[in-house]
Amino acid sequence: MANVTKQKVPTIQAPKGMHDILPGDQELWAKVRKTAKDIADYYNFLRIDTPLLERSDLFERSIGFQTDIVEKQMFTIKTKGKEELVLRPEATAPVARAFIEHSLGQTLGLPLKLYYEGAMFRYEQPQAGRYRQFHQLGFEIISGDDDPILDAQIILVFFRFLEGLKIKDVTVGINSIGCKNCRPGYRRELQAFYRGRRGELCEDCKRRLDTNPLRLLDCKVPGCQPVKENAPIAVDHLCNACRSHFRTLLEYVEELGLPYRLDHRLVRGLDYYTKTVFEISGDGGIALGGGGRYDYLIELLGGKNSPAVGWAAGLDRIVEFMKAKGIAAASRLKPKPSLIYIGELAKKKSLKLVEELRRAGLEITEMLGRESLNAQLRNADKIHSPYALILGQKEVFEESIIVRDMKSGVQETVPLAKLVEVIKKRLK
Ligand code: HAM
Repeated sequence: MANVTKQKVPTIQAPKGMHDILPGDQELWAKVRKTAKDIADYYNFLRIDTPLLERSDLFERSIGFQTDIVEKQMFTIKTKGKEELVLRPEATAPVARAFIEHSLGQTLGLPLKLYYEGAMFRYEQPQAGRYRQFHQLGFEIISGDDDPILDAQIILVFFRFLEGLKIKDVTVGINSIGCKNCRPGYRRELQAFYRGRRGELCEDCKRRLDTNPLRLLDCKVPGCQPVKENAPIAVDHLCNACRSHFRTLLEYVEELGLPYRLDHRLVRGLDYYTKTVFEISGDGGIALGGGGRYDYLIELLGGKNSPAVGWAAGLDRIVEFMKAKGIAAASRLKPKPSLIYIGELAKKKSLKLVEELRRAGLEITEMLGRESLNAQLRNADKIHSPYALILGQKEVFEESIIVRDMKSGVQETVPLAKLVEVIKKRLK
């Protein structure tokens, strides 16, 4: 045979900003999802799943053309039929679309409480806690009016979710950014103030000044901070209805004893918000989640006037936070006894034996396909099996099995018929 030189095949990595959730983290993710479901069930939120792809105009109309998400963060796909679809960057707009499309208000009644969990996509510069594919858990209440009791309840539900995960030391920043009656006045005031100090602003802020002035308050560039500190604040410009809504919400939140602080600079990066906006951060300031009221979104998408309020949490960040705080560690595989076979006959018998043990409710692990006894024993050791259950040709004929204590190395031959009983007793 010709002497073929073996070339090293280059490896392939996950796309930039996208990450695997490895087996060791799955238990933690399952716990986060289970906690979300328990909270949803208790507070009567119904699960909804929307497609990963949506039409791009859904997000353009709802999140807004002049937002970072729509301007530069959408993964766009052109279909063969020349339709423009995007990988969803968030799910509030898709939920609103589904609400209208399936007349959920009529079939399920209002207020309608919905929740979802799944992957979202934003073409961002990856950094700590910021991915291009990430997972959000979201809770939304769509109702017939804008009662602030629903704002309070939705914030409470977020706290209960974090509490269920034993996440403490979080603060909720709350603000009100007004409605379509009072926001334009505030916007003008903000623009006038910033125009006077244009020379001190970063390039992004100079652009935002004309396109989306509220986002000026979101700028993190150090040079813009002194300007921001003196900028007019939204709550000073609220109309009577918005002021009273905000005051009542704060009364409810105080009544509940939730820790909150007024955050006059909080505006959030999506255009659909009205009145209440909030964000929950752990220490270090990273936003674990955020949300707010969006009273006009459903109308804007062609539905009936249906005020709504909701939030979404970043699950990747929550899992990282839990690990960093030592609230939960990556899980070790559950140690189970290992079934080990020696020779063809025992191998054949093993497949059936696993089924018999499964029926008898005994959890074991096996290494079918690994022929070497040593390799199987090494693996049993690696996964911390308390016992190796060794089946050779002799044992198959005698209908017995060797039970080896992996710590002491002591072995005992046990009749196969007694195996379940013996192991269950030892594992107690
Ligand atoms: P958002 O603030 O854009 O709001 O995202 C909510 C949360 O998702 C953030 O606080 C963060 O934890 C997580 N998140 C966002 N982008 C990334 C990323 N690139 N990598 C990792 N995590 C990220 C919304 O999406 C709204 N739909 C929330 C809402 C629901 N408002 C009303 N209802």
